[in-house]
Amino acid sequence: MAISLSLTVNGKPVTAEVEPHTLLVQFLREQLRLTGTHVGCDTAQCGACTVHLNGRAVKSCNQLAVQCEGMDVTTIEGLAAAYGNTGGNGALHPMQAAFRECHGLQCGFCTPGMVMSAAALVAEKPGLTEADVRAGLDGNLCRCTGYHNIVKAVLAGAEGMAAPATSAASAA
Ligand code: FES
Ligand code: FES
Repeated sequence: MAISLSLTVNGKPVTAEVEPHTLLVQFLREQLRLTGTHVGCDTAQCGACTVHLNGRAVKSCNQLAVQCEGMDVTTIEGLAAAYGNTGGNGALHPMQAAFRECHGLQCGFCTPGMVMSAAALVAEKPGLTEADVRAGLDGNLCRCTGYHNIVKAVLAGAEGMAAPATSAASAA
């Protein structure tokens, strides 16, 4: 039996019918077509599905859509705007820009989840160290990069997030 669900996704109110067993990641990808949120495992280990739920990073494969009633979801598609960078198509959040600048990706499959986790990590803990980054991202797996450039990117992204929004927007 479908259940009515109302929540906010990337700043917009959304009301939809979902099955009780629909996962948040299924709802985002299959019903809202927000396919930047990836599915990389079926054991809640890889973090490719990470989104922000009321500002906190969560694995959307580990959350039922109905548990998000009334909540505020941000996906990778809405991250730049949530940060205040509304520079139109191609506008980047400072963490996205840092991943690009520091070559923090290869195939890119893990990247949306990495960026979402990293942005939440930095927001929760400004001034974080390399050790903080490595510990904070231990729930996000990358099969390509060896993590070195990801860590560099997160530290650079943290600097970008600490800079005034105007310079963050121009860096994008
Ligand atoms: S798909 Fe959610 S942790 Fe892997
Ligand atoms: S860049 Fe390929 S899985 Fe991380």
